[in-house]
Amino acid sequence: MIPTVEWSEEGVRILDQRLLPGKVEVCVCNNYQSVAQAIRELRVRGAPAIGVTAAMGLALGAQALSTQSFQDFQEGFERISQEMSATRPTAVNLFWAIDRMKQVVFQGSNESLERLKQRLIQEAQMILEDDIRMNHAIGTFGAELIRDGQTILTHCNAGALATAGYGTALGVIRSAWKQKKNISVIADETRPVLQGARLTAWELQQDGIPTTVITDNAAGALMYQGKIHVCVVGADRIAANGDVANKIGTYSVAVLAKVHGIPFYVAAPTSTVDAKMVSGKDIPIEQRSADEVTSLYGGCPIAPAGIDVLNPAFDVTPAEYITGIITDRGVCAPQDILTLI
Ligand code: MRU
Repeated sequence: MIPTVEWSEEGVRILDQRLLPGKVEVCVCNNYQSVAQAIRELRVRGAPAIGVTAAMGLALGAQALSTQSFQDFQEGFERISQEMSATRPTAVNLFWAIDRMKQVVFQGSNESLERLKQRLIQEAQMILEDDIRMNHAIGTFGAELIRDGQTILTHCNAGALATAGYGTALGVIRSAWKQKKNISVIADETRPVLQGARLTAWELQQDGIPTTVITDNAAGALMYQGKIHVCVVGADRIAANGDVANKIGTYSVAVLAKVHGIPFYVAAPTSTVDAKMVSGKDIPIEQRSADEVTSLYGGCPIAPAGIDVLNPAFDVTPAEYITGIITDRGVCAPQDILTLI
């Protein structure tokens, strides 16, 4: 599969997810502003992928700083970091990756600026490699929870496209499939911008994993009919009390799963845990534009012009609805998440 994001001599290469599955096209961002714009426009999306891309954007921005003193460099870097932090508010991986990059600058006051710029490229690459490694570990832990013959419901896209590679929720599914478990997947289409239908279905189809797309509102009926055995979703931010922010609609799936006695797992790297966020109630929820709701993906209007719209991009699932959190360091009850970081 084409990498979600990668560093190259020409700039940061991003697989343009707005165009999938119709077109497979890579855009090259050759300044940090266009990296920030790609994140805002969902050309690259998914919590871990946003973090990796932001780190690469910062490394790119740093290369263009023509300051002579460390202090001026640090100020310039801080300005770029602030712009990058303002792209999307919910996924904590963005802020986690920016902090890692800032640490490199902070610790580099005795190095030449040329050396420091190289170190920033290396750190961004390391963030990418760490993410892939964590996703494989999540896959290994999570596959133990999936039994032969099960159908797994997933929401949104927590796959290779949402990460540097392999995926979190889809990493669990990939690992179970590699163990030759006879599984199948039900992918919620995930309105409004259809990450499930466009991205999850595309990824899983490429791997030959049996996948069925449903409308979001079909999940409850399928659970009632016994056609879904387990749910696995990703996360954008996990609070200290185990509450989880993820794509809008996740909460509804979790409540339905609980009512039907179906296990509901969240798969996420430890970089998604925000230990400072005491409860999910305080997680900032991104509100996106009305057009995402009032027109179908691609532009056809489906609501009257001028109608009021609410378009929260994420919701928070309280810990009590979550059976377990699958991380790169093992599986735990949501309330115990801090014991793993
Ligand atoms: O708005 P998006 O597409 O960035 O939202 C993505 C999700 O909600 C994913 O489920 C989450 O980031 C986990 S990705 C491993």
